[in-house]
Amino acid sequence: MEQLNKYKIEFSRELNSIKSQSDLDSLQIKYLGRKGIVNSLLQSIDKLRQEERKEFGKKVNDLKTSINQLIDAIRQELLKNAGPGEFIDVSLPGKKYPRGSLHLATYAIEEISKIFQKIGFIRMSYPEVEWEHYAFDSLNMPKEHPARDDFETFFIDAPEHEKYGKMVLTPHTSSGQLREMQRVKKPPVRMINIAKCYRPNWDTSHTPMFHQFEGMVVDKEINITHLKGTIDYFAKEFFGAKREIRLRPFHFQFTEPSFEVDITCGICSGTGVTRNLQGSVKCRLCKSGWLELGGSGMIHPNVLKAVNIDPEKFSGWAFGIGVERVIMMKEDLKLDDLRIMYENDIRFLEQF
Ligand code: DAH
Repeated sequence: MEQLNKYKIEFSRELNSIKSQSDLDSLQIKYLGRKGIVNSLLQSIDKLRQEERKEFGKKVNDLKTSINQLIDAIRQELLKNAGPGEFIDVSLPGKKYPRGSLHLATYAIEEISKIFQKIGFIRMSYPEVEWEHYAFDSLNMPKEHPARDDFETFFIDAPEHEKYGKMVLTPHTSSGQLREMQRVKKPPVRMINIAKCYRPNWDTSHTPMFHQFEGMVVDKEINITHLKGTIDYFAKEFFGAKREIRLRPFHFQFTEPSFEVDITCGICSGTGVTRNLQGSVKCRLCKSGWLELGGSGMIHPNVLKAVNIDPEKFSGWAFGIGVERVIMMKEDLKLDDLRIMYENDIRFLEQF
């Protein structure tokens, strides 16, 4: 206690002789620093008898508080009296400059790649400017086939290739299927192709550029259960363990059989109804309990043949899913206008 009182008096004396900011800094370190007086007093508590400790501890803490307050007050005083440029107060917080972040599509793409890389898929990106041959013909959609109309397409103003046809902006990531099988030459193939796609649509639910991810597996004895298991794995990793998926029969030219993939709605957990004060009401998001995720199927034998893979020996599956769609579903975003995603308005972007 005596020691403590001695320091109190000494501190007041020293404080009175402070002339500059740096004197004040040294004083602060001397008393409040890691190896300072206040800490050494606190450590000496061990040497006291049990009944003295409480009171002593309180006294030291009071001393600490008043030292802090006095130092702060003197610091303000010095600052007020200093002329411009006399010193820089390094203890002031720095200026905060606005900091950018990745686009929400980029975050989603990174997450999707990781999910598939974990189970041995290799991540590929294929040309955004592509030949009709890869985008359509070898996907079992020969010229004049009406299925091509489903894929509105940007054509590039360039001479036509006699074998590969016209140049296009890839309307879907499925063109990567052929490219990947050609690259690997012989199955097994296990690829995830995430890329930009283009279609000439510009309205509240379409942007002319968007992203898809295309998964594909080709090997011996590959069947629908592998397709379903993989998409189920993705859905649970990306959206959460409670989500279920289902395959619904559909038609695509490049798969047989073909399916649309649905996922249980995250709002009503697949029941189609939610509760409010009035009782049960139809889910505002899905109405039926399910949301559409994308297209899939067993790769059509003609597609395998187009890249010289024998459909008698090998089989495979593929799926294609929209990146923007899964982002909206995951974030539970209901954008009145999807185009805001690519308008680069900072007020929108910085929310993610
Ligand atoms: N390419 C299709 C589209 O853009 C989606 C798709 C459907 C991809 C079935 C597939 C598939 O791989 O098997 O609409």
